[in-house]
Amino acid sequence: MSHTPLDPLGETARRLAGAESVLVLTGAGISAESGIPTFRGREGLWKNHDPMELASPEGFARDPALVWEWYAWRIGLVQAARPNPGHEALARLEKATPRFLLLTQNVDGLHRRAGSENLHEIHGSILRARCTETDRIYPIEDLDLEKIPVRTPEGTLARPDVVWFGETIRMDAYGAVEAFLADQPPDVCLVIGTSGLFAYIQGWVLRARRAGAFVADVNTDPSPLAQVCQAVIRQPAGEALPRLIP
Ligand code: OAD
Repeated sequence: MSHTPLDPLGETARRLAGAESVLVLTGAGISAESGIPTFRGREGLWKNHDPMELASPEGFARDPALVWEWYAWRIGLVQAARPNPGHEALARLEKATPRFLLLTQNVDGLHRRAGSENLHEIHGSILRARCTETDRIYPIEDLDLEKIPVRTPEGTLARPDVVWFGETIRMDAYGAVEAFLADQPPDVCLVIGTSGLFAYIQGWVLRARRAGAFVADVNTDPSPLAQVCQAVIRQPAGEALPRLIP
């Protein structure tokens, strides 16, 4: 069990202010205050939807129209949303930190819109689609989302360019994290708004911790990763991050 400082927010803010190297992992919780629903929890998307129907290659093969209807709805939400103070604080942190890497499981593009650059969207982006035959990538603006299932301008079936259950995450993201952790251990690892259920997320947090990083978890609710964190900040990300990164 980890030691939690008496003032986890103050201690994490001090560590961040002096950090040479910071690794950040985010999940759906950071976009909750932008109005994007999370997956798990009381109001989570997986409460009323079956992930294997909507977010797996098998589900898409069975019913591409159903999957596209759900994605078209989520694309609409994302396009209407704006980055919140949590995303903005991370963009500031990147500018102030010599070595910085942000890994997000989110597909909403809000980190990029807030100004984050050294960023890997490890589960892809809802703002791109991919041809099911050629793997060619299309920005969502180039496609007609009114015609479901969505097709490429060439008439072939398109799919969201996201990582589904049963698929592997992008190799470039693996390479970037490996290089980041191998070159120089991070001083601080921030884990924000994720239930941390995936083994690769847990693995990266554990490696950062073993390499000597101060690991802090920002989450409104208890999360399994909190046990390996030296600081647990039980606050909404949109409130905690501007305090951590003024
Ligand atoms: P989850 O929905 O599993 O978890 C969201 C986490 O954010 C929970 O731990 C909440 O307690 C926390 N949370 C909610 N609101 C918050 C707030 N305002 N501030 C801070 N924390 C908050 O989302 P992820 O962990 O991102 O994958 O889920 C991981 C992956 O599972 C997603 O990328 C998606 C999903 O299935 C795929 O689609 C492949």
